Amino acid sequence: VSRSDFPEGFLFGSASSAFQYEGAHNVDGRLPSIWDTFLVETHPDIVAANGLDAVEFYYRYKEDIKAMKDIGLDTFRFSLSWPRILPNGRRTRGPNNEEQGVNKLAIDFYNKVINLLLENGIEPSVTLFHWDVPQALETEYLGFLSEKSVEDFVDYADLCFREFGDRVKYWMTFNETWSYSLFGYLLGTFAPGRGSTNEEQRKAIAEDLPSSLGKSRQAFAHSRTPRAGDPSTEPYIVTHNQLLAHAAAVKLYRFAYQNAQNAQKGKIGIGLVSIWAEPHNDTTEDRDAAQRVLDFMLGWLFDPVVFGRYPESMRRLLGNRLPEFKPHQLRDMIGSFDFIGMNYYTTNSVANLPYSRSIIYNPDSQAICYPMGEEAGSSWVYIYPEGLLKLLLYVKEKYNNPLIYITENGIDEVNDENLTMWEALYDTQRISYHKQHLEATKQAISQGVDVRGYYAWSFTDNLEWASGFDSRFGLNYVHFGRKLERYPKLSAGWFKFFLENGKSASFC
Ligand code: GCO
Repeated sequence: VSRSDFPEGFLFGSASSAFQYEGAHNVDGRLPSIWDTFLVETHPDIVAANGLDAVEFYYRYKEDIKAMKDIGLDTFRFSLSWPRILPNGRRTRGPNNEEQGVNKLAIDFYNKVINLLLENGIEPSVTLFHWDVPQALETEYLGFLSEKSVEDFVDYADLCFREFGDRVKYWMTFNETWSYSLFGYLLGTFAPGRGSTNEEQRKAIAEDLPSSLGKSRQAFAHSRTPRAGDPSTEPYIVTHNQLLAHAAAVKLYRFAYQNAQNAQKGKIGIGLVSIWAEPHNDTTEDRDAAQRVLDFMLGWLFDPVVFGRYPESMRRLLGNRLPEFKPHQLRDMIGSFDFIGMNYYTTNSVANLPYSRSIIYNPDSQAICYPMGEEAGSSWVYIYPEGLLKLLLYVKEKYNNPLIYITENGIDEVNDENLTMWEALYDTQRISYHKQHLEATKQAISQGVDVRGYYAWSFTDNLEWASGFDSRFGLNYVHFGRKLERYPKLSAGWFKFFLENGKSASFC
């Protein structure tokens, strides 16, 4: 498979996020996000390993963009850091109505990144929110638990459209609300670290976490008791507020920027994540369980933006724990996207198992998941490319063939004491992973799915949230002991080869 197998204009790129890449956490006016606070409070080991410096994209963006150009990427996906741009979370007005609270150095930084990408022929694809709520807003009103967050998010989005929208043509509002809500508010393994503080329950959860829970499981093992929250409602409230904020930001973009007189002519969407779920046995019970897993993961966000309601299984199982949309909110919700960003990593087989002591992705879905396919890096990533094809066909059927970008897809090397740099550089499994998933994408296109881009997660190794630097997802290796120097892995060379239609003589 090579680039010429894909339609004209199909975009190939790689993805990143601000907190996982930028570093420079306490310079040039940036204030902490909930992730800074969470790591400082609960993961001193990660902080001691300079986790807050991530991979210093803030200082190294020039060389990284040069490397992107060298591989021949068409596009780069990154997120803007809300606490860098608006350190206190929102704009305010001064005595003469002048705008206050905007960090000019942050605007300068992103302008430099965007301009350099464009100079190198690389299309910027920008996510507004990749989990880093300004700590100021968490302190003030508990972030996305409060509906006040909607107004502040829209204010932040407005500022970003105004400052960058003349050059940024691909916007996503939220990234993986599913992960943010569940890991942050059910298990408490991700920021802001809320969840059940009942020790018994936590012990049971820790023992029973299936390997498929993956990154959250690793995090759970090290985590301290979270802040007391109500895990039975909070994840649903947070997602609800993020959906409202998404719809409001899209409405604003359309009204003030997309259809305005001097239209910016960009596209806007939302980034969702899903596994593909296969029934474990071919029985009605397991088929229903697999459907519930898809509903609770993908449908939770996708159904509201297409149909204006949560999936039937969620409404049935959650009852009044699930917030409701008001009629005027629905008008803005339905159709609130030009495209959907799909993050796909893996497939599970799913059995019907009433929740007892086990926790599955979400215990409320009353289903248990098992990994499928070839084992890869972290315990939750197994290689199952047919799952991507099936997921894309499912989305086409169920959601009226939306425009899709695959905004994340990749595997990691587990960075334990056994992994040498040379092994990490010789990443033939990653090459085969991308090759197979690109084949699956090509097949999906030939069956009528409207996919127009593919982003490998990730460009360089980076900070894997509460797993710190223990997991390397990059096409490029980062040497943490040697001042974060970058070294292309074999997969970076393969991508170049793929993008040049197999012409790059230097590769083999
Ligand atoms: C996301 C993802 C990334 C992860 C990747 C590997 O939310 O977009 O969680 O940030 O690093 O999925 O686990």
